[in-house]
Amino acid sequence: MGELLAHAESFNRLKLLHHLVDSPTPKSSKELAQAVGADPLLLLRLLRFLVATGMIGEADVDRYEATNITRNLTIPALEAGINHSYDIVGRSTMALPDFLQKTGYQNPSDPKHCPFQDAYHTEDNLFEWFPKHPEDLDFFNLWMTGQREGRANWLDFFPLKDKLLDGFKGGDNAVMFIDVGGARGHEVEAIKTKFPDVPGKFVLQDLPDTIKQALPVPGMQAVAHDFFTEQPIKGWSSRWPQDPSPALSPRAPRLPLFAPTDILQAPSATTSATSYTIGPMTPATRSSPNSWLP
Ligand SMILES: C[S@@+](CC[C@H](N)C(=O)[O-])C[C@H]1O[C@@H](n2cnc3c(N)ncnc32)[C@H](O)[C@@H]1O
Repeated sequence: MGELLAHAESFNRLKLLHHLVDSPTPKSSKELAQAVGADPLLLLRLLRFLVATGMIGEADVDRYEATNITRNLTIPALEAGINHSYDIVGRSTMALPDFLQKTGYQNPSDPKHCPFQDAYHTEDNLFEWFPKHPEDLDFFNLWMTGQREGRANWLDFFPLKDKLLDGFKGGDNAVMFIDVGGARGHEVEAIKTKFPDVPGKFVLQDLPDTIKQALPVPGMQAVAHDFFTEQPIKGWSSRWPQDPSPALSPRAPRLPLFAPTDILQAPSATTSATSYTIGPMTPATRSSPNSWLP
């Protein structure tokens, strides 16, 4: 996995795959080396690895061409994902074994004391560090928006209309939905696209530098809010794991709260793997259904 990411990130930086995607005919390693300004022998070795791992095709001996996978790898959100996974996730994950050894194999609970800080030689937590590194924040936000592309969306199987939207008693000025830590607002965008006539306000809350990049979703109110401080919108009932109150209590407005965790069936490879990759950067974990039961 590490080798794959390191090679993908190298090609990312060289923009090599774009040359293949833009070319109507297969290219030789020498032609590609000239186009990107690399040593032909080095490029030949890298190209062979890409062919072997299925990222590009080889039409003939030393003749390389784009495949559907190559084309997908040049989508900006996926390029951003490769960068984020190689840099922030990758470097933090590589620092994990030494971190765990030195901390006596204790579960990290302090966002300022994770493998991320060792990897980046910083005392900032990840979300304090990001605004000081805007290019990395851009990659992260682009990846958060793009990572669900082509996957089943929760709106495909969760009966949101029956469970929540139809029972909403407030008018256009009442808050229907808050996405807390919702990044650029892709979930609000998905709901508003599927149910354009839903009444009520849709609020996106996230940190200020991310709110500046909020998607232009009609009807979405993007508000900077630190979710560790008191929620400015009153009347909803949260579902933090330690909070026993039901999210959809009959006493509370019918507002779902999305914390930056996913409600997923556990154990699953995806849940465990993403929990593991988040862990080295922040002490957060994925939630299992039991975390959300009263
Ligand atoms: C892993 S991303 C998840 C984004 C989105 N909920 C999703 O599922 O795609 C975590 C989000 O939480 C936001 N975040 C982190 N700390 C926060 C805080 N203290 N207050 C508000 N948002 C925060 C980040 O800026 C980021 O957008």
